[in-house]
Amino acid sequence: MIVCNCNRITEGEVRDAARAGATTPERAYATLDCEPQCCCCLDYAQELIDEELAKRPKLRAVA
Ligand code: FES
Repeated sequence: MIVCNCNRITEGEVRDAARAGATTPERAYATLDCEPQCCCCLDYAQELIDEELAKRPKLRAVA
């Protein structure tokens, strides 16, 4: 599914970028050599990134 029509960025590409460490749509798009144009996709892209970040294992403090 296309998330960003301006740049033809897919949901999978956004999720891959988040798993690789991108925490914002701008950073995710930059990994694809793109940048936001109209910005109407940014809220949804951030939701996808937040979902991927939430899947990360939580770090525990070691005493
Ligand atoms: S739809 Fe993503 S910048 Fe326009």
